[in-house]
Amino acid sequence: MTVVALVPAAGRGDRLGIGIPKAFAMVGSSPLLMHAVRRLHEAGVDEIVVAVGPDEIDAAGALLGDLALVVIGGSDRVASVNAALQHARPDADVILVHDAARAFVPVSVIQAVVQAVRDGARAVVPVLPVSDTIRTVAPGAVVDRENLRVVQTPQGFDPDTLRAAHAVAAAERITATDDAGLVDRLGLQVVLVDGHKSAFKVTTPADLEEARRLIPAGGPRVGSGVDVHPIELGRPCWVAGLEFPDDDGCEGHSDGDVVCHALCDALLSAAGLGDLGSVFGTADPRWSGASGVALLTEVVSRVLAAGFSVANASVQLIANTPKLSPRRLEAQEVLSAVVGAPVSVAGTTTDGLGLTGRGEGRAASATALLLAAG
Ligand code: CTP
Ligand code: MG
Repeated sequence: MTVVALVPAAGRGDRLGIGIPKAFAMVGSSPLLMHAVRRLHEAGVDEIVVAVGPDEIDAAGALLGDLALVVIGGSDRVASVNAALQHARPDADVILVHDAARAFVPVSVIQAVVQAVRDGARAVVPVLPVSDTIRTVAPGAVVDRENLRVVQTPQGFDPDTLRAAHAVAAAERITATDDAGLVDRLGLQVVLVDGHKSAFKVTTPADLEEARRLIPAGGPRVGSGVDVHPIELGRPCWVAGLEFPDDDGCEGHSDGDVVCHALCDALLSAAGLGDLGSVFGTADPRWSGASGVALLTEVVSRVLAAGFSVANASVQLIANTPKLSPRRLEAQEVLSAVVGAPVSVAGTTTDGLGLTGRGEGRAASATALLLAAG
């Protein structure tokens, strides 16, 4: 019996509003997506296909490694599920569809959904009773809550049923927020099983706070980063957020500030948010010529949005020029202000050895320590 799970994770998370896609919001020491995938694994799912936005494909691949196949999702949830469905193993006996945003579903609920499909159901939905009285607004009336259920995921399907439901949705351009709703349209019976309050969908900032209360913060996280750029004669020299008018600068897509770039990579890697290339991409014109401080400012805001505070960071410039010692404290002040935490700056040469020793380029190496916020 082969169980495949499709995980739509390509939403932008507008209602959460943290500036990064919701699936990458940190809870404890992992992004939501990782929590969701881990639980599916623990439940014995054989293959997991995750659909993410085109900009997150590298970050998701690096995060999930062998745990899941990562594909590009679509402009709405139905399209993302459909994209993942195209990559599901053809020999699947059960297909689950599970929102990355419902990252804390108990393993027992996943297994109950799988079991119901094994027992012959074509579509299975975990649900909760409605405990509040519900009222419609136009026309105003109280609805009998005995007939209402809150719908959760994972929803389970026999593969032919799910494929048929999505084929109709694609042909008729139907957009829906869940897959069982598409099966209803085929006139087939949807079986209900008990959901669980832990399977709530992280939608708003309050939901994220709730998730962070549920999952212990985990320990501090360290990250490191290195950057190297060739020196380009006549280019303005920016190092550690300072301009050095007597020296030649570095070649690069941005201002070539190796110190800021190494710090960016250290912060991103500590937060598990990828690296400079995956975040800023040299193809993105917004960052062409950007100052090191501008990149660092953006990185820090992403790190904070992902649920961390910066404890401290340290960076070492490896270069013959500029002479850093007279302005080392100034550099520390500038970078500490941007990062919002102490940043130590040091400099060294390589005694005439290698590309930095020959004066062909500059390098920097950085370390950052993050704490889970909250
Ligand atoms: N989803 C998706 N592809 C989309 C839209 C949504 O894969 N184009 C996924 C989301 O990533 C999420 C699930 O569907 O795991 C449920 O959607 P929702 O909670 O609405 O997430 P978002 O669309 O990201 O949030 P918002 O509507 O607030 O922007
Ligand atoms: Mg949405």
